[in-house]
Amino acid sequence: MKQTEVVFVRLSDPDPEILARAAAIIRAGRLVAFPTETVYGLGADALNEAAVARIFAAKGRPAYDPLIVHIADLEDLSRVVSEVPDMARRLAKRFWPGPLTLVLPRADLVPTLVTAGRDTVAVRCPSHPVALALIQASRTPIAAPSANRFGRTSPTTAQHVLDDLGGRVELILDAGPTPIGVESTVLDLTQAIPTILRPGGVPREALEEEIGSVAILEQAPTPTAEMGMPSPGLLARHYAPRAKLYLFLGAPDAVLRAMRQEAQAHLSAHRRVGILVADEDAAAFADLDVIGETVGPAEDLNMVARRLFGALRALDAQGVDVILARDFSVQGLGLAVRDRLRRAADVIMQAS
Ligand code: TXA
Ligand code: MG
Repeated sequence: MKQTEVVFVRLSDPDPEILARAAAIIRAGRLVAFPTETVYGLGADALNEAAVARIFAAKGRPAYDPLIVHIADLEDLSRVVSEVPDMARRLAKRFWPGPLTLVLPRADLVPTLVTAGRDTVAVRCPSHPVALALIQASRTPIAAPSANRFGRTSPTTAQHVLDDLGGRVELILDAGPTPIGVESTVLDLTQAIPTILRPGGVPREALEEEIGSVAILEQAPTPTAEMGMPSPGLLARHYAPRAKLYLFLGAPDAVLRAMRQEAQAHLSAHRRVGILVADEDAAAFADLDVIGETVGPAEDLNMVARRLFGALRALDAQGVDVILARDFSVQGLGLAVRDRLRRAADVIMQAS
């Protein structure tokens, strides 16, 4: 592929000429990276199998991992799924456009490559004006995973996309940092009880307000390791920075103490140490030669979510060997934050 072009596009009232260019690329079966309210996506015509194959190739993504189909309107849902249950309609009315992905029975129109051979398909209607305008201009549903190389942290800026996919995508639409910062909530409506497959931008509490209790798929085991004992090899490692990541669970005071100890041990072994903490924690490390990234006040979980992936990438960019990260509360977007940190972690420490 030739060089990747990055084009700035206004968030509100995006330039129709730029959108027409992007839509022409989608219609020609090629790739465009675009902003959504969660993270940047790597888009292709969801109904064109060859185009979808290009997504897997560009990301280095294994074909067993299915993609989300993005639509611009609730009306389009019945084109890509074979059945729209009442609950889906209700959730869509409340949360669309927005960061909720619904897993439903697949319509024949959707190539099985999109769904990795499953008879279900994941669908969402994003709220970002550029994403909506691109889908509309393309006049087709757009399949889009997060626009990162497989296994890496999702991109929240156009620069992140360029860092991962430069030369592998034709055009990147840059509308600035994404406002939510973690991916959409994936809710499976084909189970007896609606099940969260991935916590994300719509909090569990908000879903339960609308439809009553939902189940959460436990993909990662509850860490029971004592302080200093890793839980090795059990977690699906994903959303991962290059550095080795240690996640500290427990009460904030104990966590900060344990992180300091761990930092000192790595520093004496001449490793470059990065820490990922809340604003109010930074002072506790002021006397240590560590590289700090703060993600906001611990109680502002929306800000923590927005800044999380950028902070992990910033630490990597500064060449740290290890990242020591604190845990956050699981209320609201905190559940998604903990999920991503746990998947990014090589080692989970229980501080006491
Ligand atoms: O916020 C988001 O969801 C972003 C933006 C670009 O929309 N997209 C995103 O896509 O995060 P991706 O491909 O990185 O993650 C999609 C998730 C994966 O965990 C995938 O396994 C799951 O959705 N998924 C997709 N189709 C599915 C299906 N039919 N059944 C179960 N899980 C599915
Ligand atoms: Mg992804």
